[in-house]
Amino acid sequence: MIEVKNLSKSYKSHKSIKRVVQDISFTAHDGQVFGLLGPNGAGKTTTLRTIATLLQPDSGIVTVDGLDVVTQSRAVRDRIGFLTGEMRLTGQLTGRELLRFFGQLDHMAKDRVERRMQELANDLEMTQYLDTPIAKLSSGVTQKVSIAVSLLHEPHVIIFDEPTSNLDVMATKIVSDFIRAAKKAGKCVVLSTHILSDAQRLCDRVGIMHEGKLLCEGPLQQLLQEHGTHDLEELFFRLVQEGREHP
Ligand SMILES: Nc1ncnc2c1ncn2[C@@H]1O[C@H](COP(=O)(O)OP(=O)(O)O)[C@@H](O)[C@H]1O
Ligand SMILES: [Mg+2]
Repeated sequence: MIEVKNLSKSYKSHKSIKRVVQDISFTAHDGQVFGLLGPNGAGKTTTLRTIATLLQPDSGIVTVDGLDVVTQSRAVRDRIGFLTGEMRLTGQLTGRELLRFFGQLDHMAKDRVERRMQELANDLEMTQYLDTPIAKLSSGVTQKVSIAVSLLHEPHVIIFDEPTSNLDVMATKIVSDFIRAAKKAGKCVVLSTHILSDAQRLCDRVGIMHEGKLLCEGPLQQLLQEHGTHDLEELFFRLVQEGREHP
């Protein structure tokens, strides 16, 4: 479970302070997919990087399974798998070589690495690509290798930043099915996306972000019902409109 309480984060440059995340709160439960949604620049990546211990909050409290991301960051990192949209794997190493390398970095036993590699390659339908240099793989398969790297250590909490943004329809389906299976296995999954149609199919619960603020948070179906729509995109535009009328 992830709990974010009153999180704020700014970026400071020599001439200005940009308040990128402003007092947001939400909860992501085990056995569910939580979607952090909103257009580019909303503050999604900043929020996820804070949960993943890569950034420190200016204020507010963020916990992962009750562990504080600032004071217990090492233990938090052991529990989470973080896939960032910004890091793209490339180079002459193959998926198999990369996974062994990251397993070693993580001090995982060799046979555990081999077992996990097989499981993940199987679930992600990429066994036939394990021995191809990453540079020669399509973006969809490269993304699958990145997912396998992020989940090699069998984390309980899965944080995926824009996991389907650069994928074609086939790769999107495999990644989506994989996320559904993780949720069924009881994992706590948080993903960010600006593709609301992908989110609508996958998420149990959502938080909609816009310009650093959370416009709403809750179970997806309940939020849709409350706003009298079946369409997440329509809900988003209504909330933005309401925000403009009643700032
Ligand atoms: N390291 C940084 N320094 C300064 N500004 C940043 C930095 N990272 C992101 N920003 C700005 O913060 C805002 C939110 O970015 P981000 O969290 O990446 O949003 P999202 O993932 O929703 O697109 C954007 O305006 C972005 O330009
Ligand atoms: Mg982002």
